[in-house]
Amino acid sequence: MNQSRDIPEPDLPAFPPEFLWGTATAAYQIEGAAREDGRGPSIWDTYCRKPGAVLHGDTGDIACDHYHRMEEDLDLLAGLGVGGYRFSIAWPRVIPQGRGAVNQRGLDFYRRLVDGLLARGIAPMVTLYHWDLPQPLQDQGGWQERDCAMWFADYASVVFDALADRVPYWITLNEPIGASFYAYAGSHAPGLRLGGGAIAAAHHLLLGHGEAVAALRALGRAAGRIGITLNFGPTSPATQEPGDIAAAARADALATRWFSDAVLDGAYPKLLTDFYEPICDFTFVRDGDMARISTPLDFLGVNYYKSWVARACELPPPGERRATDLGAVTEPPPGAELTGFGWAVCPDGFRDTLLWLREKYPGLPPLYVTENGCCYEDYVDPTGRVRDAERISFLQRYLRAAAAAIEAGVDLRGYFCWSLLDNFEWTAGYSKRFGLVWVDYPTGERLPKDSYHWYRRVIAAQTLRCER
Ligand code: FCB
Repeated sequence: MNQSRDIPEPDLPAFPPEFLWGTATAAYQIEGAAREDGRGPSIWDTYCRKPGAVLHGDTGDIACDHYHRMEEDLDLLAGLGVGGYRFSIAWPRVIPQGRGAVNQRGLDFYRRLVDGLLARGIAPMVTLYHWDLPQPLQDQGGWQERDCAMWFADYASVVFDALADRVPYWITLNEPIGASFYAYAGSHAPGLRLGGGAIAAAHHLLLGHGEAVAALRALGRAAGRIGITLNFGPTSPATQEPGDIAAAARADALATRWFSDAVLDGAYPKLLTDFYEPICDFTFVRDGDMARISTPLDFLGVNYYKSWVARACELPPPGERRATDLGAVTEPPPGAELTGFGWAVCPDGFRDTLLWLREKYPGLPPLYVTENGCCYEDYVDPTGRVRDAERISFLQRYLRAAAAAIEAGVDLRGYFCWSLLDNFEWTAGYSKRFGLVWVDYPTGERLPKDSYHWYRRVIAAQTLRCER
């Protein structure tokens, strides 16, 4: 069957010659093999077993079975023609207890993955922490404990020792907001409901980030570049009512600036530290912490999925308040086109976020879009194809927005589409398909969607243009 005839031609301006085209995944979402070769349990293994926590009671036990199908997935990446691949390392696979004994079989898996990428001319971009804390560390308090920062730095050093000579891009943390504010609001593992404890956990995550940056830097220049991946969900007021304006300002500060201000400016946004006073005394911030956290980075990873509008709502009393209770309810901007997740499609918001980052932070390092993508109600049609025209249209518009930001002077160096494969979408289980490649979960079979072929053409056309 000739698929190329009815897949639209990419219509994009030229990107810079060195632009890194890639896709992204994360360990718990794709690997499976949850109890193999010495892997220990993570907080997500535990959380998935909590009744009602994850849709259909889905777990990452098997996921996409990437652990056993790694070669096939590497070939899919090579077929796509990407120059980079972002994946994460599962801490519990490398150090099953979280601290102490290293599991060589776990490290060997990632060595094979890195070598397989390099053999295909693909640059590995490695995330050290994509939310899968070893359960034994959670049992000792997890990220609420300051010691967790050092446990993370020790784990990072083990990984650096094994791979730093071969990995050009390191990411300490993926979206720390998910592992702290959301995790301690009850909607992500470990699913505890805390107030100020979530803010302490966020601080300790950032401290761990700072320590890991220092550990890599101690290895010298040859050890690759290091950054952090933050997500940005710009939020504007739903109306011009003063209450809605104030609510949106708080929601926006958390969704766009809590982490980036800390990492790039060395301070948390005052608007929120004042607001959090009734639930948090900030005594966990010690002298020197903010300097450690704001160690200059080689790059910033940007995840962008959606923008919001917010309106005011009532706040629970301080004793019952979580750190995500900002007296604001958020919703998609009115009239916005929505993805299969109900997230607003707003490529302009994406472009504006990239421009805003450049304006706001004078010392901003180069940017990589480390995640952007969408899920829709994809299905395999009777001819055996996944005709995901919406995803193609989505990517086309977001890539144009990225090009516009570059044109306006943003130092954007690469774009990693989320995701290579359909995978375990956290509390939504397997119900949300974000992949360029369809995964048939009962058999594990892979089927490139139309968007895979489209993205391959994007990359090929850009590469050809640069070679001319
Ligand atoms: C991001 C996560 C990623 C994936 C996408 C859809 O917030 O980093 O793991 O779930 O959302």
